[in-house]
Amino acid sequence: MEESPLTEALDANDPPYHTKLRSLASKAFTPKAIEDMKPWIEEITNELLDQVTDQGEMDIVRDLATPVPIQVIAKMLGVPYKDREKFKYWSTVFVKQPSEVEGGIEGYLLVQQEMSQYFIEMIATRQENPTNDLISHLVQAEIDGGKLSTKELLAFCITLLIAGNETTTNLISNSLFTFMENPKVQEHLYQHPKDIAKAIEEVLRYRSPILYTTRIATKDIQLRGQLIKKGDLVNTWIGSANRDESVFENPDQFDIHRTNLRHTTFGHGVHFCIGAPLARLEANIVLRILFERFKEFQLKFDGPLTMNQTALMFSIKELPVIFQKR
Ligand code: HEM
Repeated sequence: MEESPLTEALDANDPPYHTKLRSLASKAFTPKAIEDMKPWIEEITNELLDQVTDQGEMDIVRDLATPVPIQVIAKMLGVPYKDREKFKYWSTVFVKQPSEVEGGIEGYLLVQQEMSQYFIEMIATRQENPTNDLISHLVQAEIDGGKLSTKELLAFCITLLIAGNETTTNLISNSLFTFMENPKVQEHLYQHPKDIAKAIEEVLRYRSPILYTTRIATKDIQLRGQLIKKGDLVNTWIGSANRDESVFENPDQFDIHRTNLRHTTFGHGVHFCIGAPLARLEANIVLRILFERFKEFQLKFDGPLTMNQTALMFSIKELPVIFQKR
């Protein structure tokens, strides 16, 4: 994996290099930049819902939770939305372990090459003709007086495309699924739409879209009788921390009135999710508009949910629902 552009990615690096990369990326995630996306996210959501209104049913994952984040990130980066099928496919591959991908490591590397080729062309186009999108800003940006290398630019594009897609899709689907499982909550949210933000925050804890992140131990440490050695690769289980009974009362209960919402879903420390405000905004807008336009959401079929095969995420594959117009 040494040649992978992702060795230059934000989440794969330590300070001081990470700090410089992060300060560049932060410019696209200022509160104003996020706030400016609001009307546009509302427009996308309404357009998608217009297409299913008269059907009285939809697959939340396919019809809403997947296209919204892809359109948002495509617009931010400045890549054409017509390539959305590719983005979707790449995102699903990249959130898997290479061993979980069709064709194993080779299959994974092929997808990585295909994606790199796509972005190398995008980067070259913006180097010649910069516009007002994130790729154009990054090609013109400088770290320590020098421009970013193609590998660094690729790492940015790939990380942003991947990090923001499946995660936000999961948050939207997991939220509606959890509200349907709890009809009283659904009813409460119709009466008190202001509580949607609080309810999404509880979904982030209860059904975290991401279940673990990875670290390398910097020193030997004893933890609950286990020795973790310096250099060991460690998976820190967010899903478990979010149900820690020493932190949360009745952790296995979904409770939107919880006052302690100190979940670790967006990570912790210098790598804390840079896209957290954007993910929250997208989920809030989508759920609010869903509830404004429709009511009485129910699963279309009884029976177990189809899940995506990945240990990294709580990720629903299909969520067919029926609903009434309001
Ligand atoms: C519900 C949705 C999301 C969840 C649950 C989530 C979760 C996370 C987590 C846990 C981390 C920390 C990883 C670590 O410490 O190793 C992280 C980092 C990151 N996230 Fe998100 N994320 C979400 C949405 C987004 C969005 C919408 C974007 C961008 C469009 C994004 C971009 C990133 C980036 C670039 C990093 C790396 C930050 C760094 O290393 O400094 N994420 N995310």
